[in-house]
Amino acid sequence: MSKKGKPKICICLSGKTIEENLRILERYRAVVDYVELRADCLEPSERFNIRSFPEKAQLPCILTIRRKQDGGNFEDGEGVRLVLFAKALSFPKPDAKANYAFVDLEDDFRTPVIEEACHTFGTRIVRSHYFHDGIPENFGAAYEQIAQEDDEIPKLVVNPQSSADFIRFLEWAIRVPKREHLLIATGAYGIVSRVLAWRFGSMWTYASPLHSGMEIAAPGHFDPFDLRNIYNFDLVNEQTELYSLIGQHSILASLSPYLHNKAFREMGKDALLVPTPVDSFADGLKILELLGGKGAAITVPFKEDVLPFLAFHSTDVKRIGACNTLVRRGDAWAGYNTDADGFERSLLEFLGKQDLSGCRATIIGAGGAAKSIALALFRKGARCLVLNRTYSAGRDLARKYNFLYSHLDDRASDLISEYSDILVQATSVGMREELDPISFYEFKGSEVVFDLIYHPSKTLLLKRAEEAGCRVLNGYKMLCYQAAGQYKLWMDEPPPDIYAQLEQPKFS
Ligand code: ATR
Repeated sequence: MSKKGKPKICICLSGKTIEENLRILERYRAVVDYVELRADCLEPSERFNIRSFPEKAQLPCILTIRRKQDGGNFEDGEGVRLVLFAKALSFPKPDAKANYAFVDLEDDFRTPVIEEACHTFGTRIVRSHYFHDGIPENFGAAYEQIAQEDDEIPKLVVNPQSSADFIRFLEWAIRVPKREHLLIATGAYGIVSRVLAWRFGSMWTYASPLHSGMEIAAPGHFDPFDLRNIYNFDLVNEQTELYSLIGQHSILASLSPYLHNKAFREMGKDALLVPTPVDSFADGLKILELLGGKGAAITVPFKEDVLPFLAFHSTDVKRIGACNTLVRRGDAWAGYNTDADGFERSLLEFLGKQDLSGCRATIIGAGGAAKSIALALFRKGARCLVLNRTYSAGRDLARKYNFLYSHLDDRASDLISEYSDILVQATSVGMREELDPISFYEFKGSEVVFDLIYHPSKTLLLKRAEEAGCRVLNGYKMLCYQAAGQYKLWMDEPPPDIYAQLEQPKFS
């Protein structure tokens, strides 16, 4: 954690001109602490103007001229790079703000003349080492190598290829003695090291101005506004209680961190939900435990994999056979499921009803999500038809509640017509592509159509249903209400209204 007690953000500017970089910096000035000029991204003619950048930026600046082999754009050779560094660091001005505060020099770029200039003029050296392809066994030795000088800031960057790789890095990073350093894991597997840079003892986290249309400077960067507004960078501290969102890479598009972290902020909770993309639930749990986390939200496809790890299963977990919420109880984990309640609340609210007796509904899908929907519809008295691509899975789910079942193809058309008060789409079809799992079915216009997908906010199915005159609903409210249930379990108090009030953000 940095001196002022809150984590710092360094914005990486990779524009083609100094002017473009400064224009973008203006939009972010209020939310960033440091600026990195990626001089290797500048047009060659602009590179000769880098000396003037700190004075114009008026924030502590880091100069980086990243070589091609280290993931940057600089290809003109070490001689030219040396000249550029020398030019940028020379002629120091009395006002320190007009000089570079830091310069990023790779481990193999040991140039006494540049180092001398840095020492004389008060520019601190960030001594970096990159592992671009995975994490070798002896990566700790590379850190020892770059951490030799007390006045330098060692920066180790690794690129985990799996969640197991990331766990190795995390286990090491937790043990390494704290000092001013930067420990970064890139890409989706390394997200935790960026959102929780402060837990790694990193002096700052690097971010890219993505909302301003600038290219991402390194894989895994967030936009600085998201670090402030979604990950509460202005609030979190060493005592902050951590919760994980455990799922596959698709969780990076999830709105759960946005919702929960807004609620934590609003209620003054010193807590944070962090997305943890992993290859297996066991890896997600390991990361959660290494971070000392208090709970987790679990999503596709791990809601069933979590069951063997639970010391306590709630009634809904037992009935549904899936768990979406973990709560730490002493040394063990208790598992709950808030999906059925979240679905029920959003559907009844939409319909303006208290129960569904007399309603006939079709459930499309028989996976984890569909299992929660089936329980909720059963509890509220609806009679249902289950359609699934894999016939046996649809049959098994339907039999639990004495529902009808059928194939997910045009053989089901007439049956859907009979069970068409409410249609619930609970497969992943339509999430990534414009696909409609019941394209064979012609809407009458009287159906209520509920697609659990909220990203995109209107799937092809919902568009088609709406055009036919149906009332349609996506999964955003269900997400909010199942999240409200998670808050209640984690905080042991009623959830704030924010879960019911927050509109679906435009970006989803
Ligand atoms: P979730 O927890 O989101 O429900 P899941 O348990 O993997 O995820 O279930 C996915 C559901 O989407 C299943 O009903 C699956 O059908 P199968 O049982 O036949 O696998 C359904 N599904 C996924 N891809 C599909 C596709 N391309 N066409 C039809 N159904 C699909």
